[in-house]
Amino acid sequence: MPKVRFRLNGVETDVDADPDRSLLDILRGQLGMIGPHFGCGAGECGACNVIIGDRAVTACDTPLWSVADKDITTIEGLGSIEQPHPLQRAFIAEQALQCGYCVPGILISAAALLKRNPTPSSADVKEALDRNLCRCGSHNRMVRAVLRAAAEMAAG
Ligand code: FES
Ligand code: FES
Repeated sequence: MPKVRFRLNGVETDVDADPDRSLLDILRGQLGMIGPHFGCGAGECGACNVIIGDRAVTACDTPLWSVADKDITTIEGLGSIEQPHPLQRAFIAEQALQCGYCVPGILISAAALLKRNPTPSSADVKEALDRNLCRCGSHNRMVRAVLRAAAEMAAG
């Protein structure tokens, strides 16, 4: 089986697996990264999002072979309990979540946006989160949280 090599949360990682398997399957089943969640399995809900380069990508429909030599960030690489990412602090401060299922993918979409655009408008945030499904109605709080994190990060 050919090895596929990529950087996962900053760590060089080799995977020996069928290159047609989904990245999500490899992350969760083989590499112990259980933050990206399996929701629809069809690229529609964003629960499985990871950052590849500076874009949020659905890992469930991304084949392993396509991430060779790429930089991948999962929610595990964003922050920790000891050192939360500003987005994680802002989501708590704005009480912007009700479930733990969709939120890792939403934080990943927001983090990818802030990588590309550190000073987004409300419309930019809405567009970036447009493909993440949240069924509990927390959208407005999430947008406020992303703007709060952006302001905090801009202030240094
Ligand atoms: S599980 Fe990947 S987009 Fe829904
Ligand atoms: S926070 Fe997960 S469904 Fe709304």
